[in-house]
Amino acid sequence: MNFRRIFLVKCLLLLFPSAKCAVTKWIYVPVNDSVHLSVSAAGSIHQATWMRDKKLLQIKDMITKYYVNKDQCRCKIFLNGTLQIEQLVKNDSGKYTVLVYGQDGKLKTEEDTMLIVQEPVPQPNLSVGCVNGSVLVTCEGKQKTKDHMFIIEVMQDKIKKIQRNTTKVEFYTHYSGMFRCVVKNQVSEKTAEKKIKCSGQLDLYLILIIAGGAVFFVFMILLIYCIRKKRAERLEEDDERMMQIRQVDTEMMVQELPQLPSNPSLKQPRMQQRPLPQPQTQQQAVPPQPRPRTQQRTPNRPREGP
Ligand SMILES: *[C@@H]1O[C@H](CO)[C@@H](O)[C@H](O)[C@H]1NC(C)=O
Ligand SMILES: *[C@@H]1O[C@H](CO)[C@@H](O)[C@H](O)[C@H]1NC(C)=O
Ligand SMILES: *[C@@H]1O[C@H](CO)[C@@H](O)[C@H](O)[C@H]1NC(C)=O
Ligand SMILES: *[C@@H]1O[C@H](CO)[C@@H](O)[C@H](O)[C@H]1NC(C)=O
Ligand SMILES: *[C@@H]1O[C@H](CO)[C@@H](O)[C@H](O)[C@H]1NC(C)=O
Ligand SMILES: *[C@@H]1O[C@H](CO)[C@@H](O)[C@H](O)[C@H]1NC(C)=O
Repeated sequence: MNFRRIFLVKCLLLLFPSAKCAVTKWIYVPVNDSVHLSVSAAGSIHQATWMRDKKLLQIKDMITKYYVNKDQCRCKIFLNGTLQIEQLVKNDSGKYTVLVYGQDGKLKTEEDTMLIVQEPVPQPNLSVGCVNGSVLVTCEGKQKTKDHMFIIEVMQDKIKKIQRNTTKVEFYTHYSGMFRCVVKNQVSEKTAEKKIKCSGQLDLYLILIIAGGAVFFVFMILLIYCIRKKRAERLEEDDERMMQIRQVDTEMMVQELPQLPSNPSLKQPRMQQRPLPQPQTQQQAVPPQPRPRTQQRTPNRPREGP
């Protein structure tokens, strides 16, 4: 990122109108491999110079000129400007810049390439064991790779654990079956697989089914209880309604009675019976009535006294 920014600033500062600003390329190569760093500028190359901090080599008019020791650099340049480096070592990692000049000696283009030389990842050591009814999974890379990304994935069924920048992954799981550990970086990938079935390990699906059954059972009991309670409440409501209907009937009878020429002595006992079956709200409304009477009586007494 820093390189890119510096390069952009460089590009803006360049006064050559024909100079193109190319984005930095990233190339990952394993150690001991060889690599070709190419020039993307179109057309035949008249003159090209490769640099890594300092000048490495140049091709001009089809003649190669070395600025460094040829054997140490392990490099050569092709007519099309491509730089080749053989038997790469980690030390070869870094930013390589090529400057391409036109026939008139003016800079045509400047291109940056980031070369990253990586060690191939080590073969992982995957071990799986049964501990207290669960599976202990351990995946370990034998050697550490400090400078570059190192990924260990442990896959079993549909679970995937990814950890970066580590050499060891360890965890417990209730699943059993196939386990796979993959260690990879940009240039290589290695896999280890193991299968395990712990005896005495409760199957998770069985646990789920039992738990689900228990929940369903409790739910059904609650449902039945609620239905019964509702039914009982409804019956009570019906009884109350019946009582109210009966009450209305008696009221009707009472209202009809005075119109009939009959004995008034019958009217009184029925009027007294009326408040009894009425709801509590009316019964509660009755007691406050005597209070004003007592309050009226108390102020009356002092008046009567003198
Ligand atoms: C590097 O590669 C060469 C062949 O390309 C091989 O002979 C040599 O053993 C390799 N060295 C290492 C350290 O892998
Ligand atoms: C440049 O030339 C070399 C050798 O002839 C060839 O391997 C490489 O593919 C060429 N690269 C481009 C970008 O044409
Ligand atoms: C390569 O690495 C060695 C030691 O590991 C170091 O002495 C040497 O300077 C490095 N060369 C470059 C070009 O970085
Ligand atoms: C893998 O790990 C197990 C236990 O951690 C150990 O016994 C075994 O020797 C290791 N194997 C290798 C090839 O490193
Ligand atoms: C297994 O369980 C027993 C008792 O529950 C405990 O003492 C023991 O430490 C456990 N072992 C491991 C490796 O967790
Ligand atoms: C891995 O570690 C290196 C240095 O130890 C660090 O630069 C890099 O950012 C780390 N990568 C991740 C993904 O954590």
